[in-house]
Amino acid sequence: MIEDINKINNEVQSFNSSSLDEIENFRISFLGKKGKITLLFNNFKLVPVAEKKEFGSQLNILKNNALNKVKELKSSLAEISSAPKSNTDFTIPGQPNDIGSRHPITIIRDRIINIFSHIGFSISEGPEIEDDWHNFTALNFPEEHPARDMQDTFFINEDIALRTHTSSVQVRVMEKNQPPIRAISPGRVYRNEAISARAHCFFHQVEGLYIDKGVSFADMKQTLMYFTKAMFGNETKIRLRPSYFPFTEPSAEVDVSCTICKSKGCNVCKYSGWLEIMGCGMVDPNVLENCKIDPDLYSGYAFGMGVERIAQLIYEVNDLRLYSENDLRFLKQFSSDSF
Ligand code: DAH
Repeated sequence: MIEDINKINNEVQSFNSSSLDEIENFRISFLGKKGKITLLFNNFKLVPVAEKKEFGSQLNILKNNALNKVKELKSSLAEISSAPKSNTDFTIPGQPNDIGSRHPITIIRDRIINIFSHIGFSISEGPEIEDDWHNFTALNFPEEHPARDMQDTFFINEDIALRTHTSSVQVRVMEKNQPPIRAISPGRVYRNEAISARAHCFFHQVEGLYIDKGVSFADMKQTLMYFTKAMFGNETKIRLRPSYFPFTEPSAEVDVSCTICKSKGCNVCKYSGWLEIMGCGMVDPNVLENCKIDPDLYSGYAFGMGVERIAQLIYEVNDLRLYSENDLRFLKQFSSDSF
């Protein structure tokens, strides 16, 4: 008889279900009027007297086990059914979100800013929609200068245009501050050019300006040498070629030794060993005067470079259009680059 109890107890312990009907059937078949446990109770009178005590206590344990089982299963069923119903399938695999990365132009611009901020240049920005005074007149552009032509400049009206260079910010900085001035001005500029691998209707420049007492051409050269070494590597050489800009006198074009072939000659430097990277010069006294800075007291230098040009040399990208096409296959290649 004790064996019967053990056997039924095993059945009770191993029973599991999350269906209300099955749990009810279990209850009936074990604890109902004709249930297995009830029958054992009915047989109690047949148990020999000596075993009655042990049998009785085991039987009570069995009955409690069965009752507890029913209670437990029913309460876990209630928990499940009271959980909020949702149509969302939480087992569907998630859609991976691509992590964004910085644009190569931003990376290079930040590198340029970083290099100049180490030697005391602060950043100033100006508007992309600019008036004639700041973009041309204050910068000593003669009335008939070709850059003022409709063919080069996007005019909004007679006086307002999209700035064609960041040199306009020079004027704004000098109008607002007296020397010493040490500022760089990064920003986007616009020119009315047919879009090709080598030209675009918008691009980015960084302008530099340094005005103080006794600033010389040699100071400018040292600063630009420092910059090119920091940007392209310590072994980089520079050379200055005479040039012309209305707002600087004298003016020069800055070349760096070819970063790609190390001056051995390649098709990027057209076998010259040199690459042009920026324009520069001593700020013309007329410009200082236009900005209410006394040219007898102060002198200074200015320079301007194209960010795409620098990026092209660092990354060896030979088609300017790639920078503004938002092609992820192109942009992802710079995702691990920091400054
Ligand atoms: N503004 C010139 C350009 O867009 C670049 C430039 C040349 C800036 C000489 C300067 C400079 O400040 O001194 O081509």
